[in-house]
Amino acid sequence: MADTRNIILELLGQLGSSREAREYLQRFSTVDSYQFAVVKVGGGVLADELEQLASALTFLRHVGLFPIVLHGAGPQLNKALEEAGVDSEVVDGMRVTTPEVMAVARPVIYEQNMRLTEALEAKGTTCRSLLHGVFEADYLSPGKYGLVGDVVRVHKDSLRSAVNAGALPIVACMGESRSGQVMNINADVAARALVLAVEPYKVIFLTPTGGLLDDKDRIISSINLSTDYDELMQQEWVHSGMRLKLVQIKYLLDQLPGSTSVSITSATGLTKELFTHTGAGTLIRKGEGFSSLTQLTEENQHEIAQLLPRCFDRELDPGYFDQLKLQRLIWSDSRRAAAVIANGHDAIPYMDKFAVTPTARGEGLATALWHQIRKIFPKLYWRAKLNNPINDWYHRQADISMRAGDWRVFSYGFSLEEMQPLAEDALGREESWLPLPEVEEGPDE
Ligand code: ARG
Repeated sequence: MADTRNIILELLGQLGSSREAREYLQRFSTVDSYQFAVVKVGGGVLADELEQLASALTFLRHVGLFPIVLHGAGPQLNKALEEAGVDSEVVDGMRVTTPEVMAVARPVIYEQNMRLTEALEAKGTTCRSLLHGVFEADYLSPGKYGLVGDVVRVHKDSLRSAVNAGALPIVACMGESRSGQVMNINADVAARALVLAVEPYKVIFLTPTGGLLDDKDRIISSINLSTDYDELMQQEWVHSGMRLKLVQIKYLLDQLPGSTSVSITSATGLTKELFTHTGAGTLIRKGEGFSSLTQLTEENQHEIAQLLPRCFDRELDPGYFDQLKLQRLIWSDSRRAAAVIANGHDAIPYMDKFAVTPTARGEGLATALWHQIRKIFPKLYWRAKLNNPINDWYHRQADISMRAGDWRVFSYGFSLEEMQPLAEDALGREESWLPLPEVEEGPDE
């Protein structure tokens, strides 16, 4: 197993840096094995991406991770009901489950569960079908929804037992009452109950779209609920389905430890989402707040002096704070992201440092920090070394960017004429890092 793990880590490195992959693998392995992730798979994914799903899950199993898979069978059930000529109604998002509907639903759910376990087994991945015994249910409202169950208890033993035996638990959205009546459980209800009971490190929703989409149908890379939620809920383009998703995810995250995050991605994107900082899909975190200061205490200085080298891999000049004409410091509650805004030319705001630790980048803290900066400063300029990997991102945030020697100067909110003296000021600034140690030359060959 250790060998496979290494080979796979190599391969993962191809997706991003292997250091990134290792870091995430280590983090996912710190929790109890069965608490790594709950992956909710929609019936649509089972219909169209079964192979990709089985590969992605097999991959996780090979690196020693055991996601708990929960699947629905919505589209398959619709089709089966139609073919059987059974009328069924959906009320408040719940499928009213008469005994006739249940007679059709049960085999359909069994069949979808079996398709997934067979696809996994074909790849040599041991798994365990959990069609019963996980969700203990009670009638939600028998008069209104029939055999639809509300989850009253989640029996985690069967999940733990599967994982301890080296098998991936494949859970169906069905439950039974205390007296053994089988009940249909809405997939969202089941997911919520499962997540709250297991308290996994990651909550993953696999959908055909591969993430939440913005007004131009692009995938939103990350959402920091503490700073973005209210704003998002006010947007017109956030349609009712997405609104409901956001409300539900917020509700979930509010009850889970701060380290838990939700990823919405596709079966194909799953590996990249999990093992790189940038991911593939939408990452949603409870997130953290930001605060800002116009003056630094010695303790503040000490904290910043700790943060900057972690972000830039360089050592800060000890005289940095004496030279700094601080206009404002904006930083995140966890102190893993900060922007130092100084007085530039004519006291115009100059961004002296934009610092985000590597892991915080994956969490979307860079974007969240940028939103804070934009809120406070209608105009801003800054510079970056030509080879700085963040420059592509700066390009997208800036409306002017110009190259001079080893540097690039960026800005937003200024006209080209206004930029002239600002660019000169930016280029004339001292470096705030200690020089890199001289590299010793090897002997001539
Ligand atoms: N790999 C990390 C995780 O799974 C970060 C993912 C970042 N994803 C994103 N869509 N921004 O938690």
